[in-house]
Amino acid sequence: MNLSNQIKNDIILILEKIDFLKNSGILETLEKPPQEEFGDIASNVCFSLAKELKKSPMQIAQDIVSKIQIPKNSLIQKIEAKGGYVNFFYNHQELSKLLIKEILKQDKKYGSSKIGKGKKVIVEYSSPNIAKPFTIGHLRSTIIGNAAANILEFAGWKVYRDNHLGDWGTQFGKQVYAIQNWGDEKELDNSKNPVKELVNLYVKFHQEAEKNPVLEEEGRKWFKRLEDRNPIARRLWKKCIEWSMKEFNRIYKRLNVKFTENNGMGYGESFFEDKMKDAVEELEKKNLLKESKGAKLIFFPNDKLPPLMIIKNDGATLYSTRDLATDKFRLNKYGKDIVVINETGYEQSLYFNQIFAAEEMLGWYKKGQRYHLKHGMFRFKEGKMSTRKGNVIWLEDVLDEAVEKVKEKIEKSSNNKLSDKQKINTAETVGIGAIKYFDLSHDSVNDIVFDWERILSFDGDTGPYLQYAYVRGKNILKKAKKWKETYSFEKLSNEEKKILNKLLELPSIIEKASKELKPNYICNYAYELSDLFNTFYHMHPVLQIQDKNLKNFRLTLVKAFTTTLKNCLTLLGIDTPEVM
Ligand code: ARG
Repeated sequence: MNLSNQIKNDIILILEKIDFLKNSGILETLEKPPQEEFGDIASNVCFSLAKELKKSPMQIAQDIVSKIQIPKNSLIQKIEAKGGYVNFFYNHQELSKLLIKEILKQDKKYGSSKIGKGKKVIVEYSSPNIAKPFTIGHLRSTIIGNAAANILEFAGWKVYRDNHLGDWGTQFGKQVYAIQNWGDEKELDNSKNPVKELVNLYVKFHQEAEKNPVLEEEGRKWFKRLEDRNPIARRLWKKCIEWSMKEFNRIYKRLNVKFTENNGMGYGESFFEDKMKDAVEELEKKNLLKESKGAKLIFFPNDKLPPLMIIKNDGATLYSTRDLATDKFRLNKYGKDIVVINETGYEQSLYFNQIFAAEEMLGWYKKGQRYHLKHGMFRFKEGKMSTRKGNVIWLEDVLDEAVEKVKEKIEKSSNNKLSDKQKINTAETVGIGAIKYFDLSHDSVNDIVFDWERILSFDGDTGPYLQYAYVRGKNILKKAKKWKETYSFEKLSNEEKKILNKLLELPSIIEKASKELKPNYICNYAYELSDLFNTFYHMHPVLQIQDKNLKNFRLTLVKAFTTTLKNCLTLLGIDTPEVM
């Protein structure tokens, strides 16, 4: 049982003998009060009992408080009635003993749970398109999807991490044509940014096609050849994947993000090339495809959603055809009870609603088994981006700029004693961490305006602030070298009590984040925790204390803090620098 529950248990033990509280659901009413003078946790149950008991909430609260007796060793120390509320005060000395010991014992596992035990989930994220830019949208998907996967895993789920690469589709006919006519394979082989060059070729194709419409036909022909396993087409298409993955893998490495499926590559769209037929046949067999102008579509009951095209009028398959084949494959491979989460931009909401509805009609997935985790847009002042016109914001440029800006800050800072190597490492970790935190700290469905100043600030609700708090804690421990772990102290300061209360919250925060798939809850928590730690740090000495017992306790508290913060950052996929 985690400690929060143990506290609730103790509350129940205390209130047990009060008859009118039976079946009052008091546990559900427990909440953190807005001010510390109202206790550590409080209940408004008296307000709902007032009518039935024909007494004022004030009177009822007083009745309760006058009737109770707190047993020895309880985690509750004091109970007060105020304004109709019942306010409970923790026995922090006792709580500290149990909680800190528990955190240090569980270490990297503190905050984890088993609520997902026995359940399996595929989290599909990133999913960039071959020969196209890795967009800021794909960055968001990578960061948010990775954090969601981490959180679910921490909550006990068996998690499969998949990458649905866009490596198939008619655009590869155009690409293959363009490479043969205007491309230089050697140059592409040796290029540091081959995707940039492939995008240029793709842009050129569309420019030329405007002047010469025959090219569109050429593109279609080359895609047909690709499908028919023409060796030239096949080889160039494979090359496109190789060139693009070189670049994408560099990004994944920098972001420290991995996938588990298909040997870490993920099952891209092309994997389903030969599996679409089967899915389409099942649709036909279940009478779910209707012809319209030569194309085949799924129509939804009462037209509650617009029809979804599955086969084009020239017989070509689509993104949707591959998604259905993918989800059928998943049922077979991972089992009928698999949960599947797709992380993409919200502009695909309608599309995924259609896919989910289709999969229910097919009898494949039940409600709750399919989930679209959506993110809004990062808005740049430069405006939106489009591949066809070629005015793209390149993700790696954004990451580089973040790192560069942090480096400048470090150079400028007065207490900069870092070696050149340390500067480079710290700038990378802080720059990337800052972008990740900025992304994750917002509710992911919202659009966010990209604001360098906010992202890289060392103050307030930012990645650098959290990393700094962590490094500060670690430094204290480093300087102390050795000490005797001490889990409690007879006279705890207010600041220490507040840290303890916060530390106690982590398991329930993670549980909530895993149920609602909201990494921002963890950001919020980590920020509040760091803030409390900083306040404590500025008010109370740790290393410069005479009282050995107190010094040992404070060091142990700092260790519990760094352990807990580290667990949050790990879940968010944010690394911590050695020095800062
Ligand atoms: N490649 C797509 C894109 O860039 C995202 C794929 C999302 N996943 C899926 N199963 N459709 O928009």
